[in-house]
Amino acid sequence: MSEPLLSVNALTKRFGGFTALDNVSLSILPGERVSLIGPNGSGKSTMVNCISGVLRPEVGTVIFEGRPLNAISPHDRIRQGVARTFQIPRPFATMSVLENVEIPLMFAASDRNKTRDSSSRLAAATEILASVGLGGKLDELSSSLTQVDMRKLELARAIAASPKLLIADESMAGLSGTEVDEILKLLLGLRERGIAVLMIEHIMKAVMSFSDRVVVLVAGKKIADDVPQAIINNPDVVKAYLGE
Ligand SMILES: Nc1ncnc2c1ncn2[C@@H]1O[C@H](COP(=O)(O)OP(=O)(O)OP(=O)(O)O)[C@@H](O)[C@H]1O
Ligand SMILES: [Mg+2]
Repeated sequence: MSEPLLSVNALTKRFGGFTALDNVSLSILPGERVSLIGPNGSGKSTMVNCISGVLRPEVGTVIFEGRPLNAISPHDRIRQGVARTFQIPRPFATMSVLENVEIPLMFAASDRNKTRDSSSRLAAATEILASVGLGGKLDELSSSLTQVDMRKLELARAIAASPKLLIADESMAGLSGTEVDEILKLLLGLRERGIAVLMIEHIMKAVMSFSDRVVVLVAGKKIADDVPQAIINNPDVVKAYLGE
């Protein structure tokens, strides 16, 4: 058994009197593909925000590569290898596609890869953008991209931080069937880069074909954590989510 890359231990997050996450634990192995699913408002993005450091849980710990992240800022968590995409893409709108990927490369270089000069940065950004299918759009303004290309740019920006874990929060929402397949293929390809993925997704077809394991949240509580086939046959999961 290898050591987990990420372990979230007994996390509780409250907003005022409302408990958004209630004593939730989960772990992810290096290179593993895990999906986090559940009804709207069940706490999925809150979990992403607690792992990435945007939110501080009231109780519980987040351990990454054996080190507690609780006291570490969101920026330093990215440097340690935890990258995420946002449910609503957040590119720098006034910058080109290429510049949008150069920024996180520069940021990662400030710590883990100090030797990266502007020409090798350009080469790395170009390679990453080609790998997500945006090789022909380097000079376009990010604000002019279609929705699917915006999602690809969001993934490219996360990959540029050289993460060990990439958290994709609904990267396929609002896309057509063929576009969903394109994004799914990109997420599946991350294992070749040694990147583990936590995928938050409502599209069950994508969840089933993507995941080594699926974690189910309902109203802030974890109700299941198992291989995909067991999840779709779990009566509690069917009742609370899949049967909708
Ligand atoms: N900053 C906040 N302040 C107050 N309540 C919040 C905040 N963020 C989330 N919540 C509440 O916490 C609950 C969980 O929200 P969260 O965004 O984590 O759900 P989700 O599972 O990601 O849902 P969706 O599938 O719709 O994206 C919701 O009831 C939401 O209204
Ligand atoms: Mg969400």
